[in-house]
Amino acid sequence: KSGYFTLDPGFSSTGACMSTMTYIDGDKGELLYRGYPIEILAKYSSYIEVCYLFIYGHLPSQKELQLFEETMVSEMMINEKLIEFYKGFASDSHPMAIMVGVVGALSAFMHKDFDVNDPRDREYIAIKLVAKMPTLAAYAYRTALGLPIVYPSKKYSFIENFLYMMFSTPMNDFNVDKVIVKALDTIFMLHADHEQNASTSTVRIAGSSLANPFACIAAGITALWGPYHGGANEAVLNMLKEIGNKENIPKYLQKAKSKDNSFRLMGFGHRVYKNYDPRAKVMQEMCYNVLEKTKRANDILELAIQLEQTALKEDYFIQRKLYPNVDFYTGIVYEALSIPTSMFTVMFAVQRSIGWICQWMEMMSEKVQRISRPRQLYVGEDQREYIPIQNRK
Ligand code: SDX
Repeated sequence: KSGYFTLDPGFSSTGACMSTMTYIDGDKGELLYRGYPIEILAKYSSYIEVCYLFIYGHLPSQKELQLFEETMVSEMMINEKLIEFYKGFASDSHPMAIMVGVVGALSAFMHKDFDVNDPRDREYIAIKLVAKMPTLAAYAYRTALGLPIVYPSKKYSFIENFLYMMFSTPMNDFNVDKVIVKALDTIFMLHADHEQNASTSTVRIAGSSLANPFACIAAGITALWGPYHGGANEAVLNMLKEIGNKENIPKYLQKAKSKDNSFRLMGFGHRVYKNYDPRAKVMQEMCYNVLEKTKRANDILELAIQLEQTALKEDYFIQRKLYPNVDFYTGIVYEALSIPTSMFTVMFAVQRSIGWICQWMEMMSEKVQRISRPRQLYVGEDQREYIPIQNRK
């Protein structure tokens, strides 16, 4: 037991835990949140209802949902002293760097009034975190642009508040556009949880030492930032702009097939999905109605679809079962909603916060608490003699 282990770099064939939250069938391209297919939730549910489902394990009644959303909205305010943090960042800081900093700082404001071993306190932690993430994200955007911050308002729903804090200014009235709110709400739902992806596993590993849960979420944000994970949505839009037009697609596909791994088709491929990512399908359909609603040219969408269709005819992609993933289309919708590219991964972090904190709750509710501590295969030097420095040449 003590000396034997399987070497599994990247954990491709390692199950780290048991969970009741999210089921993925990578071969079929299926995704269910607590048993409900993502396509059904995307059509009939809402992000706030999915948050309730993950925290409490069942869908709420009308009354329960209304009360839950009121609680979440009332928790969107952040400590005024936290706002000082935003003044300290370099003016060209990437918003993900700001989010790592300010979410980690939440642990300096929320540490003594809860006990991580008390289920009721864990619920309170989940609500506090998920409610504050949209505010922290909106403030990262506003302060970067030198705009005044806007406080959340009970006049608006949870998602409306995010748009209100992002885009309203003292100069103009804020109009709630139901089509935009529904599109954003759907994108939030699609990103809510995804079993043991790199950032969720990071949150679980950090939490396994019983560290402050808000600091564990900051660790998850760090893992999400990379272009192989949540950072892909920003990388996709930069890649599409670099490709520019469909004549350049063959050249970029050639680069993507190069052995040296120097260039990958961003938004393509997935460790688990060896079929089309069901979330990408919902996103592609949504692109059309958002672009039409915002009267944005859809040339970048047409280029993305052309790229997808051309790649999926190539043996290289077919043999490796490389399909578009959730990140392939999100950026196109965000850009149509006037969300800047540098904020795309911040959007993902806000949306995934419910998954991270509920996976942390699930781990903390286990009877036996074990720290996550994998082994390694040592391939370094054999034991050797230490030569005192005065005797070295
Ligand atoms: C997310 O895990 C999750 O659930 C994540 C996520 C979530 O909701 O949390 O779904 C969100 O992060 C989606 C993924 C976003 N990332 C990207 O789009 C970046 C581009 N994709 C790749 O880097 C890659 O596909 C990964 C990182 C997503 C998955 O990597 P794997 O499973 O480790 O695959 P691999 O590196 O072992 O690749 C297998 C083969 C290799 O070629 P060979 O060595 O067999 O010749 O496929 C190739 C790779 O070179 N390959 C690609 C490719 N992805 C894999 N080649 C070109 N372009 C790509 N995108």
